[in-house]
Amino acid sequence: PSMGGGDRHSLISEGHRDSGKLRWKHASALKVANEPVLAFTQGSPEREALQKALKDLKGQTEAIPCVVGDEEVWTSDVQYQLSPFNHGHKVAKFCYADKALLNKAIEASLAARKEWDLKPVADRAQIFLKAADMLSGPRRAEVLAKTMVGQGKTVIQAEIDAAAELIDFFRFNAKFAVELEGEQPISVPPSTNSVIYRGLEGFVAAISPFNFTAIGGNLAGAPALMGNVVLWKPSDTAMLASYAVYRILREAGLPPNIIQFVPADGPTFGDTVTGSEHLCGINFTGSVPTFKHLWKQVAQNLDHYRTFPRLAGECGGKNFHFVHCSADVDSVVSGTLRSAFEYGGQKCSACSRLYVPRSLWPQIKGRLLEEHGRIKVGDPTEDFRTFFSAVIDAKSFARIKKWLEHARSSPSLTILAGGKCDDSVGYFVEPCILESKDPREPIMKEEIFGPVLTVYVYPDDKYRETLQLVDGTTSYALTGAVFAQDKDVVQEATKMLRNAAGNFYVNDKSTGSVVGQQPFGGARASGEWVPSQRGGATCEYVQFQLSPLGDWRYAYMQ
Ligand SMILES: *[C@@H]1O[C@H](CO)[C@@H](O)[C@H](O)[C@H]1NC(C)=O
Ligand SMILES: *[C@@H]1O[C@H](CO)[C@@H](O)[C@H](O)[C@H]1NC(C)=O
Repeated sequence: PSMGGGDRHSLISEGHRDSGKLRWKHASALKVANEPVLAFTQGSPEREALQKALKDLKGQTEAIPCVVGDEEVWTSDVQYQLSPFNHGHKVAKFCYADKALLNKAIEASLAARKEWDLKPVADRAQIFLKAADMLSGPRRAEVLAKTMVGQGKTVIQAEIDAAAELIDFFRFNAKFAVELEGEQPISVPPSTNSVIYRGLEGFVAAISPFNFTAIGGNLAGAPALMGNVVLWKPSDTAMLASYAVYRILREAGLPPNIIQFVPADGPTFGDTVTGSEHLCGINFTGSVPTFKHLWKQVAQNLDHYRTFPRLAGECGGKNFHFVHCSADVDSVVSGTLRSAFEYGGQKCSACSRLYVPRSLWPQIKGRLLEEHGRIKVGDPTEDFRTFFSAVIDAKSFARIKKWLEHARSSPSLTILAGGKCDDSVGYFVEPCILESKDPREPIMKEEIFGPVLTVYVYPDDKYRETLQLVDGTTSYALTGAVFAQDKDVVQEATKMLRNAAGNFYVNDKSTGSVVGQQPFGGARASGEWVPSQRGGATCEYVQFQLSPLGDWRYAYMQ
């Protein structure tokens, strides 16, 4: 996922001239490491800085313009971003770009494209490295606080996203972009061959989701790093943090017109960008129907484009934890609680199907219910013991509520814990654990995107059949985990579930991939990050966890 668009290159054979000079000389000099995740324990400087930043946002409404080129533009279509856990608090006031403004943004970016693309990759990389340093240091608390208040994240969820992952994206992308220049074809004297990595001819549309501040920065940032110009439509419900990221990029040296910051109504944006002959790529994270719609629009306009647009989309999942009777129960329990309920299940990688062998069920059920009683749901800024907060908005709340009603009325489903919701102050949904007698109940198939975990208990001796069920139940294939101590079972499950997940974990939870360690991506309806980069092959990333998982709580929560 953190690879820049490496498929855009032209091969130039230069006869006798020595074009070796074009090559980046210091590829190996750029060393980057994952940004440490800070602990935020009592008395730590990061906790103090964060608390101050949170205080600064209290009751505030930030005005956020569209930015086209260097110009801040306001339209009459005014919108608000509400704090999910306190919807009386408008955290941002922004406006939608209309068709005319979007077209202006397209023209402005096209005019800036050539010069940007000709800039050496090392210079472009420098901007992202600088932005990463700003995020890591002076701007960390601000971006975390904005992610917490605007998107309803807890301290740790904001930290692993808006700080750690975004910083990693910028640094690793810069490193990979620079290293790519070193990938050169064979030269046979007397001629030398070289690849020039260039941006696409046109503009890229980046459409980012609410759930990760880091994804916004990456969807818009990665193409820009590679020499592209970008129209970035951030999510309405992540506006505050997205704008902070945009400002940081600009302050780090990103010239105007390379990334246009254009909040917009989804269909208006989709129609306008797909209607332009200059569209050369869409970088999308969001729902399957929206991505399919965009893809169809591109297909319909195919005759008008100057180049075939590249479509990259990531569309969610229905992720599984499969437990074998040889599993370590503690790891299953804490891994599942984190994966299913952190950020209210609003991660594409969240576990929402748990398969448990009958022999272990009494024990696992007892532990899950016991810990369920200890999960604190609430305002994550007031009380750091909060494990998760409200779901993102009214629409999401209504969808989850419908699923909870379905759970009550379906004869195959039993609610074991939770199941209540209340949107009087914020969009709060209790963590819910269900048991399904029917492994193909709709709730086992469809994405809910909320704190709802469904368990299917299977007969121990039917574990192969159950693995087939895991593989065949949903149309998604994003993440999944197998919990087993028996090595043969791990091997067998790995084979049987080869196409059931892009990120496959052994004895670890299905969430929490780290840039550079577990590259992220899926298949089937979950989409694929960089479709054209892998020569027709798709990847599966496998991670083995060698030590048992610890407590589901974090130290700063004490
Ligand atoms: C989309 O963004 C990803 C990073 O998230 C990048 O690897 C990819 O090249 C981008 N694709 C396009 C078409 O811009
Ligand atoms: C983020 O949320 C969108 C829905 O808005 C979903 O489609 C996507 O899969 C999620 N991505 C991640 C990385 O959680």
